[in-house]
Amino acid sequence: MKEQILGFPKGFVWGTAASSYQIEGAWNEDGKGESIWDRFSHTPGKIFDGSNGNVACDHYHRYQEDIRLMKELGLKAYRFSISWPRVLPAGKGKANPKGLDFYERLTDALWAAGIEPFVTLYHWDLPQKLQEEGGWANREIAAHFEAYANAVSCRLGDRVHNWMTHNEPWVAAFVGHLYGEHAPGIKDLKTALQAAHHILLSHGRALPVLRANGDRNTKVGIANNLEWVNPFTQSEKDLAAALRHDGAFNRWFLDPLFKGSYPQDMLEWYGNKIPRMEVEDLKTISIPIDFLGVNYYTRRTIAHDDKGDFIKVKRIRYHFVPHANFEQWEVNPEGLYLLLRRVHQEYGEPVMYVTESGTAIGEEVRPDGTVSDPERLDYLKRHFAAAWHAIQEGVKLRGYFVWSLMDNFEWAYGYSKRFGLTYVDYTTQKRTVKESGRWYADTIRRNGIVV
Ligand code: FCB
Repeated sequence: MKEQILGFPKGFVWGTAASSYQIEGAWNEDGKGESIWDRFSHTPGKIFDGSNGNVACDHYHRYQEDIRLMKELGLKAYRFSISWPRVLPAGKGKANPKGLDFYERLTDALWAAGIEPFVTLYHWDLPQKLQEEGGWANREIAAHFEAYANAVSCRLGDRVHNWMTHNEPWVAAFVGHLYGEHAPGIKDLKTALQAAHHILLSHGRALPVLRANGDRNTKVGIANNLEWVNPFTQSEKDLAAALRHDGAFNRWFLDPLFKGSYPQDMLEWYGNKIPRMEVEDLKTISIPIDFLGVNYYTRRTIAHDDKGDFIKVKRIRYHFVPHANFEQWEVNPEGLYLLLRRVHQEYGEPVMYVTESGTAIGEEVRPDGTVSDPERLDYLKRHFAAAWHAIQEGVKLRGYFVWSLMDNFEWAYGYSKRFGLTYVDYTTQKRTVKESGRWYADTIRRNGIVV
């Protein structure tokens, strides 16, 4: 077949994404306070390989080298998150100037390399001190988050134009407070739903502050993890289960943000577990955003299961098919296309970025030190093609951030999963660009893919 080039719109933002706890290390340096992830990973039995993020990629000390790497790959943008306890060690009160200095140095060095910073305020490393007051389950946290947003944007608002308040509210609320697999390790549905509400509320509270401390160019959004939901069969029960999964996972977060209401079917399903809220909350949450960040990894196939968890569903895992990776996540680029199109149609055609997308398929380090990862390259190529198709149909997708620039601390999996375009040797901290990373650099240079 003849080769075809799928060209992206001029100015399309090609980037990579990362988060503070997963790469920075320096967990107790320069006045940083303890985070719930420090506490959680220091608790025996919580992390698969017994590791923690104390050092991680040592990015706190090596950010200049990492920015050189980004420049070498030709990245247009870099999405990173700020560690709340690095800026406010106790979560509130006095700021730690050295913490703010670090993010200022990082931001300035990015701009100097011609790379635009996209900044997330919360990627899960809550100050432990705030957890001791109830964390996300305590309504007061919305005010603390607003003050934190203010502290950060007072310092960086003149040079950061793209903000995300939160990363993946569903994961922070449910994996942290229902499944207990992430910090703070709570297992209670009511707490999870309350936490989710306060996360959204804090988003709405921070938004005007970020705008006020910025300028005309300031754009504020949020990065949600969204899935394309696929019913296992067309049976009535499976269809209803798929709708519930979509309700709990996608609509529970998109509806408040875009429509100012929680989905009726899920309010009924949760019954007396629905979160406490005040009259104005949904108005605050639905203040229009400038863009929606979409983190997409997989399509989810859902069956009904009476013994299933809180929404009586079973997530079908792909143990035995070749198209599966990390956690038996199905590799399904079409799901990205369908999802982007659906959000475009159902939620008022928002500007979107894919703010995360990637895979942890295994790779091989060759004797000569090079790293071969054809499956990752193929994953990215097919997902970029899906994004391209969505753009052809009018979806306002403005950029794509690959997860991640380099291998890093993958939460409860520790260092056992590698998502990087760059291989990290954790004993020497040597970074080696993988084949997929070189291919990504070509894609950026060409602003398109060859299929
Ligand atoms: C997402 C997280 C990110 C990373 C990837 C693999 O859910 O936002 O930090 O762990 O998954």
